[in-house]
Amino acid sequence: MGTPLKILITSQKGGVGKSTVSANLAAYFAHISAKTTTLVDLDHQGTAGKWVRNATPIGIQCISVASPNNKGVGMALLQAQQALRSAAASTQVLIADLTWTDILPAEFLFDFDLVLVPSSLSRVELDSTLEFVNRFSFIFNSSMRTPPKLVVVPSRVVNMDTYSNVFYQSFTTAFFLSPPVRFSDKASEFFGAEFFVKTSHAETRDNFIEFGRSIEELGRIQEAERPKPKGLYQPSMTGTILDRFRAGLNANDRKIPVAANDYAPPSLHDRFKAAIPSFLSRVAKVK
Ligand SMILES: Nc1ncnc2c1ncn2[C@@H]1O[C@H](COP(=O)(O)OP(=O)(O)OP(=O)(O)O)[C@@H](O)[C@H]1O
Ligand SMILES: [Mg+2]
Repeated sequence: MGTPLKILITSQKGGVGKSTVSANLAAYFAHISAKTTTLVDLDHQGTAGKWVRNATPIGIQCISVASPNNKGVGMALLQAQQALRSAAASTQVLIADLTWTDILPAEFLFDFDLVLVPSSLSRVELDSTLEFVNRFSFIFNSSMRTPPKLVVVPSRVVNMDTYSNVFYQSFTTAFFLSPPVRFSDKASEFFGAEFFVKTSHAETRDNFIEFGRSIEELGRIQEAERPKPKGLYQPSMTGTILDRFRAGLNANDRKIPVAANDYAPPSLHDRFKAAIPSFLSRVAKVK
């Protein structure tokens, strides 16, 4: 199985729709996209997990892990990362639900392809969301590693007129704005019973499918941008001493010369000698 699409749904704010989006996005990928999907519930309340476990099964694998909290962030974080890694080995889509707390290291965000931050479009909630966006801009703007894509998800949206509220301030990082997850008056009825993408309530279903499609599309873009695994180590003839050393070790099998002008496979002794700088070879008494 290839590298899965890893999506984190998080926010520091409570009650913004993290678990609703997590459970139903997992259902979107499992039911609409027919992908093997795993929900990793990192929230102590386990709301998303309860939804998935209690609803009519649609093949979502569900794992609950103690969320990293004040009682011991180190161990809990390791456990969470371990659970994510082992889940990632056997799934095409991995969705994690987590309430963000300041004890979490920002670098944890690098474990994901997409970071979704649900927020209502009220000024108060948006302010908090945009503060989060700005605070972690150094992660999302990273050029050292492939950064996750940041997506603000307008959630429980009643009035689309408020959509423009997002643009009233400036940001230190670019982010994607997903289609809104509209307020559904059936949401509490559906909790733990059925998924938005499967319901006969067309308004809720169609809206969530549109949202799911946009996230899936963004996942595809992120996947295309991901650096490809390099495969076998390819020693470079013009590279460092370490490159030449490795080339020397491989020379027997692959007949790679240790130096650009040395085309005959050299002896083992010569290969080691070529790889060791002169000041070290004196110490090591290599003739
Ligand atoms: N699209 C929606 N339409 C209607 N109600 C919603 C919607 N999304 C969430 N809600 C309701 O808002 C409340 C909070 O939702 P949810 O539990 O998903 O948020 P949360 O961010 O996970 O909360 P917590 O911080 O407690 O984990 C719930 O009562 C839920 O039913
Ligand atoms: Mg929750």
